[in-house]
Amino acid sequence: MRDLSKMDTTERLKTGIPGLDEMLDGGFPIPSTILLSGEPGTGKTTLAVQSLFHGARERESGLYISAVSEPRWVIQKFLSQYDFYSQRIIESELLQFLDISEIKNGEDILNKVIRNTKRLQPRRIVIDSINPIRSKLGGGEEYRELMYDLLSSLKGYGCVTTLICETSYSDLSKLSEAYLADGIIICSYREVESSRKKYLEVLKMRGTDHTTGMRAVNISQKGLSIYPELR
Ligand SMILES: Nc1ncnc2c1ncn2[C@@H]1O[C@H](COP(=O)(O)OP(=O)(O)OP(=O)(O)O)[C@@H](O)[C@H]1O
Ligand SMILES: [Mg+2]
Repeated sequence: MRDLSKMDTTERLKTGIPGLDEMLDGGFPIPSTILLSGEPGTGKTTLAVQSLFHGARERESGLYISAVSEPRWVIQKFLSQYDFYSQRIIESELLQFLDISEIKNGEDILNKVIRNTKRLQPRRIVIDSINPIRSKLGGGEEYRELMYDLLSSLKGYGCVTTLICETSYSDLSKLSEAYLADGIIICSYREVESSRKKYLEVLKMRGTDHTTGMRAVNISQKGLSIYPELR
């Protein structure tokens, strides 16, 4: 007989990334804040957006918040090379893109994100990335206050918020978001047989069991997938 007191009753949000939901014991806990951090080109944006499209295919709304001053069409052009991308979903407005790159202060960023969260009621939110926001606000009290207010509000709305971050494992302990987040996924390169391969590791995930150790990442036109064994 199962021990009911030990049954995991946390509601999960499937990422739809092949291999990742198994690592997370079903998906991200709802609500939660996930820090998706790592080196350039390791697949952070692909992973986060693939999960947004997965949600949209389940008739769930999602919000992609861009903090870099790249026009929307440039981001969408890059993403449209993937099979999971769907122009029909974009046109249906289930998945919306929000540009916050021009906003100069924390209060206005908070207001814009919350206003759009109330309007769209997204289950999944991606902020890509937090580094330009931190640079703009100076990384001091205004930034910390914004992150604290933003993340607690979004949790209150029942969202799973993924914060993309350009920090590698070695500098993670200096990052206040690493302590605020419920979960941390780190993407990295490792040299294998004189070439660099992509890897992913779930470092922490509050309130759930998860697989530890690095897993191999493959990115192709089909999107990102994770392999069970380190190859
Ligand atoms: N069709 C494809 N086939 C194989 N690999 C691909 C394909 N499309 C993208 N990639 C790989 O994915 C990488 C880009 O992934 P992505 O932009 O999601 O990474 P990122 O971690 O967000 O990068 P950055 O830190 O620069 O924003 C490319 O550098 C490339 O290695
Ligand atoms: Mg990116």
